[in-house]
Amino acid sequence: MHEYDMSELEQLDQFADEYIKMYEEKCKSGTMNDVEAHELLSKIAHIKRTVQIAGYVTNHNKMAMVAAKLHDIGRFPQYDILGGFRDDLILHHNLGEDLITRMIFQKKLHPSTELDTIRQAIMYHGRTQFIPFRESPLTKEALEVTDIISEVDDLDNGCIGALGYIEGEIIHDSKKYQEKNPTLDMSLISPRVFEYFSRGEKFNKMTECHTYADYLLFAAVLAIQSLKGKHKDVAAQLLETPCFGYENAMAGYRDLFIKYLDPSKALEAYDIFYSFYVEAKGYDPTTHAK
Ligand SMILES: [Fe+2]
Ligand SMILES: [Fe+2]
Repeated sequence: MHEYDMSELEQLDQFADEYIKMYEEKCKSGTMNDVEAHELLSKIAHIKRTVQIAGYVTNHNKMAMVAAKLHDIGRFPQYDILGGFRDDLILHHNLGEDLITRMIFQKKLHPSTELDTIRQAIMYHGRTQFIPFRESPLTKEALEVTDIISEVDDLDNGCIGALGYIEGEIIHDSKKYQEKNPTLDMSLISPRVFEYFSRGEKFNKMTECHTYADYLLFAAVLAIQSLKGKHKDVAAQLLETPCFGYENAMAGYRDLFIKYLDPSKALEAYDIFYSFYVEAKGYDPTTHAK
């Protein structure tokens, strides 16, 4: 990876720590209701795990770790403004970029190559393939960091994070699918989503998800992408980790599929998901001794 100035990265790391801590304290101060505090704290937990995974897969590369710590910084102003993580109203990518610009105006951050690379990762993580660029707006260095962040983001969201927040989002209609479509059965899977899912292909959540069943399969596709990617061993390991009261993440998905997917599709969907897991491992852990 490109050589970056360590002292610049150190300052950005410190800025991120202070900024995140401010929200962590706000969550624990009792001024927010329980749902808000829980949603924000699970986002903070996602950010922290992302930093850890970024460190693990890059051999503790400082740029990757600081970019991971800042990649979702726009989630905080998004929550302040909208009271939820509503990318359908204002993307957290843009709010992250807006926050960085305001911090520069306020002299809390100063422009640098390092900040420039990170703000491109903030702006484009997880969506480079859905933006019909005429030419890539990213520098080569920023594209490299953005790709790492997108991979690590999917690793955490798909293999661990989603299991901690999806059920709450379904219950509280956080994505407003039900509000937008009160008569629609939220366990129905859109045919196109099921096709993407069966192929283990990532799709655009913003345009394709209409129900919580779709959204649940989107999370599973992030895990499948990781199981097909260059860090498939890390993905399988994360999916075997106990989390959020589940024996492991795979069992968590199984429970959520049975609970929230159309009953005629739930087990078929789990079998598809499980087959990607077996493929990544190279053997079926339920029938083979390790
Ligand atoms: Fe994000
Ligand atoms: Fe993220």
